[in-house]
Amino acid sequence: EKGGYEHFMLKEIHEQPKAVQDTIAAYVKDGAIDFSEVGLTDEVLQSLERIYIVACGSAYHVGMVAKYVLEDLAHIPVEIDLASEFRYRNPYLAKNSLVMVISQSGETADSLAALRLAKDRNVPTLGVVNVVGSSIARESDYVLYTYAGPEISVATTKAYSTQLIATYLIAIQGAKVKGIIDEARYDALLKELNTLPEKIQKALDDKERMQWFASKYANAKDIFFIGRGIDYAISMEGSLKMKEISYVHSEAYAAGELKHGTISLIEDGTLVVGVLTQKELFEKTVSNMVEVRSRGAYLMGLTNYGNYSVEDTADFSVYVPKTEQYFATSLAIIPLQLMGYYVSVAKGLDVDKPRNLAKSVTVE
Ligand code: F6R
Repeated sequence: EKGGYEHFMLKEIHEQPKAVQDTIAAYVKDGAIDFSEVGLTDEVLQSLERIYIVACGSAYHVGMVAKYVLEDLAHIPVEIDLASEFRYRNPYLAKNSLVMVISQSGETADSLAALRLAKDRNVPTLGVVNVVGSSIARESDYVLYTYAGPEISVATTKAYSTQLIATYLIAIQGAKVKGIIDEARYDALLKELNTLPEKIQKALDDKERMQWFASKYANAKDIFFIGRGIDYAISMEGSLKMKEISYVHSEAYAAGELKHGTISLIEDGTLVVGVLTQKELFEKTVSNMVEVRSRGAYLMGLTNYGNYSVEDTADFSVYVPKTEQYFATSLAIIPLQLMGYYVSVAKGLDVDKPRNLAKSVTVE
């Protein structure tokens, strides 16, 4: 059942090229995005003035990426909330808006309650859901299924990756119907999207390097992940993977925010992972890495092939293939998933069933 892998998590990590491929194939037909299965028409997309994304945990981290991509590419203002906050804060929902609930299980209690709140206010809802026929899928006006297949390991990997694809597709189609990108750019984005399965596979092929590094850092007390923009969102997910399965305290920080307090936690040898996939932000984050290095931090730099100047700053550099900057998360998350996984293995922990956690959180 684990297909020769030691854990479901490792199996599911390796299923990501296929899960991503299947999700793209479900909605990209003959070189164009086809949302007829979702029911999301071009007219609806065109009329959207605001999207509220609501989710929990890793799905919320997808929402963070989606905010950057939807705002930058499709010029749609996005607000993002944790479902457990949204449902209790009497949110003001603007007209011509859409509430988008992202959930692997489709059963997360707070996410379902957020969806119901939106329905009570007559705001259209879109569920991005993996489990067919789940509550969120049944109750949403539009359903965009992700095609990750069953996910067994408590820590999400392949569902997260397919949720990212779902949000890229909405952003690309939104940009097209709003006339923000021309045909050539649209084609180029879809072409690049289609290269992701192969590039994710390339990132997976470097796993021994992450295994070696993880075994070296298995006894770390604290780990910090820093980045800006999309790289901050990636940091959040990398940090959660580390905490939940490896029981290593870690924090993700917007790189520029560290100096407003948290930098006092950096000691000699503290591991700081700098995520650097966004060209315009590269130097800015490097300067934050230099700041922590001068306080004794040991630095891992995670970037795309070609950005070799990271080696001037980082003690250990990890590269993933180059891609369109909007899609960077899909590649940069791979070494971070592997790092969390291998730290957990090195510590002899129950990777697939970490303590205190359940696969589907149906309590409020
Ligand atoms: C982390 C993880 C959780 C879920 C969260 C939401 O690896 O799996 O943070 O992302 O509990 O679950 P769903 O997506 O089922 O609503």
